Amino acid sequence: MNKDVLNGLFRPKAVAVVGASATPGKIGYTVVKNLIDSKYEGNIYPINPKASDILGLKAYPSVKDVPGFIDAAVIVVPSTLVPQAVIECGEKGVKGLIIITSGFSEVGQKDLEAQIVQSANNYGMRILGPNIVGSLSNSDKLNASFAPFLPLAGKASLVSQSGALLIAIDAATYTRKVGFDKLISIGNMADVSIADIVEWLNEDENTTCISLYIEGLKDGRHFMEASRKARKPIVALKAGVSAHGAAAAASHTGSLAGAAKVYGAAFQQAGVLQATDLDNLFDTTLALSLQPPMNGENLLIITNGGGVGVLATDAAEKYGLPLKFAPADVQAELKKHMPEFGSAKNPVDLTGMAGNEWYADSVRFSLSHPWVDGLVVLYCETAMTDPQEIAIAIHKAIQESGEKNKPVAVSFVGGERSAQAMTWLVEHGIPAYGAPDKAVNALASLREYARIKEMAHEDTSICKNENREQALKVINAARAEGRESLTEVEAKQVFTAYGLPVTTTTLAHTEDEAVQMANKIGFPVVMKIVSPDILHKSDAGGVKVNIKDEKEVREAYQAILSNAKAYKADADIHGIAIQEMAPWGTEVILGSINDPTFGPTLMFGLGGIFVEVLKDVTFRVTPVSTSQALRMLGEIRGAPILGGVRGEAPRDRKMLADTICNYSSMILDLADEISESDANPVLVYEEGKGVKVVDARIILKKK
Ligand code: ACO
Repeated sequence: MNKDVLNGLFRPKAVAVVGASATPGKIGYTVVKNLIDSKYEGNIYPINPKASDILGLKAYPSVKDVPGFIDAAVIVVPSTLVPQAVIECGEKGVKGLIIITSGFSEVGQKDLEAQIVQSANNYGMRILGPNIVGSLSNSDKLNASFAPFLPLAGKASLVSQSGALLIAIDAATYTRKVGFDKLISIGNMADVSIADIVEWLNEDENTTCISLYIEGLKDGRHFMEASRKARKPIVALKAGVSAHGAAAAASHTGSLAGAAKVYGAAFQQAGVLQATDLDNLFDTTLALSLQPPMNGENLLIITNGGGVGVLATDAAEKYGLPLKFAPADVQAELKKHMPEFGSAKNPVDLTGMAGNEWYADSVRFSLSHPWVDGLVVLYCETAMTDPQEIAIAIHKAIQESGEKNKPVAVSFVGGERSAQAMTWLVEHGIPAYGAPDKAVNALASLREYARIKEMAHEDTSICKNENREQALKVINAARAEGRESLTEVEAKQVFTAYGLPVTTTTLAHTEDEAVQMANKIGFPVVMKIVSPDILHKSDAGGVKVNIKDEKEVREAYQAILSNAKAYKADADIHGIAIQEMAPWGTEVILGSINDPTFGPTLMFGLGGIFVEVLKDVTFRVTPVSTSQALRMLGEIRGAPILGGVRGEAPRDRKMLADTICNYSSMILDLADEISESDANPVLVYEEGKGVKVVDARIILKKK
């Protein structure tokens, strides 16, 4: 990120509009008018070869004719004229280009887009867009866009990949009462990326929360790095999570991975909160932009109505912040501010008799008490109380508590007077919502933010158990035969090169060899067909288990060969694998995909029916440290099975986590080679007894 250039782009001191027009209805007219209407204090230079004056401002034929400096140029000439405009801006020494013009990569004009980026970068300029609405900043009184007006002022900044949505959000900021400092349309992201803007907004003094609308990132890992380093909360709404990759998957893992899961994992790893929908993006942005993170689990709810209290209690459970009874000393104090029939447990029900003072006293006390980590204050409009006075009392009590590190959210349920009181609260820095569950969800987001921020900074030291050369030898040999998948025997050799504990597996080419190998491994053994043409070995009758003696080895050898031939007469048969028969253990699956956005990504889940039917799996973008791997084990619904159920001993989670870590290092190290892989099943034994990879699959990247 070049900070000076991006400052020029987003906080320019002088702006040119290339393609400015005196004709109302044209974008070139609207942009100039918007700059004037937003009361922009820097110089505005309309550029138009034919006009001398536009909207009362002197116009220039070219940026090169402008007497003063120009930080940013908004470009609104047709796409064919953009390359020349870029060159002229470069010659003038402009820092950033806000290219509103459409007609580039979004309609297949990739070369034209690459050309303008190259040209701009040659002059040290950066491009926002093309194909955007523009850029708006309240603190700079800058509406360099064709969105109608500056958004309601606030402390969040939004980056949107959709121009139309940005315009809609702009207007909605007033009805939703969620304030923004900057709205940045990013369009085709030909040059400046969301990651660049996250880095820049992290340094922006007027932004306290970064809000993102994402359709698809181009540089997933840069985004993760920028977000992980950010000191400000980030909330992202990811659209388009349904169709992604899964169709062409060749492995089990490939078929289970999708944009929703991989983006979800990446966001979590990078400390980014994920909004569930547009409504939730607004709600979460409001909370994150106004309140500190919630650094503990203890949520206290104060209410004047039992009904909203119960709704909030349900919501607390739903959003992962279940209520606990307040400790005795908290209850004793709160009891002083309610009638006999009130409840101080949690939710704290001040009853319908609650007036300003009871609210104030209980809010002030609760916030100051060390047990309370966050507070939700609910109010149902009553005939005896004035919502505005209640709002003032709550605000004053928060101030008087002196507490700045605990979040508070409010919900007033009522009519117009309540709505007005909530607007006042938001203006005074307290997020307020029309429904109790939303206020609780706001606190849950602030808790989640604290939690994932901790996670994003936890130990990321990774396993380095690598023998790359050994793995490449196996892979290159397969490639030399024109293959793009490894046989099980080969895949296990690659796994072994990265310290993964596979079942002892040797390849027999004759019946006698099979007998010798089985004797060496020790009975019982498993025998499997090894053929690049037979991926689904069991379906082809190519697997025999529990072979107990020499006679059975010979019978199985013949049976497997004839089954394989019957299944595919011209199959290329490498031989028959003789394997140690691993004792029963809990079946899990590990696997990987090479995600187009985030690169090597690992999957873990319980095996068998859990993965087939329930799809109970979890993902991480690599690298995955052992501590992250342990967290993965706890994330799946079937986690208790690994803890030991029905009197069984707990499984060897430590060894499984080490195996995940080694697997991660394998797929990261071989990112150029491996497209997808599965270790399925992996058997997990009792604590201290380790794990065994029983079957392995590797699909190579096309070269
Ligand atoms: N330098 C400066 N001005 C020039 C030059 C030049 N070299 N050459 C021509 N001009 C002037 C034109 O004379 C005209 O001014 P005039 O009205 O005085 O004649 C002005 O620049 C604009 O040129 P037009 O040819 O009139 O172009 P028009 O305004 O019709 O369209 C635009 C230009 C808006 C950039 C169009 O090509 C375009 O891309 N529209 C889509 C914009 C968009 O939707 N962006 C994505 C937003 S995201 C979303 O979907 C909401």
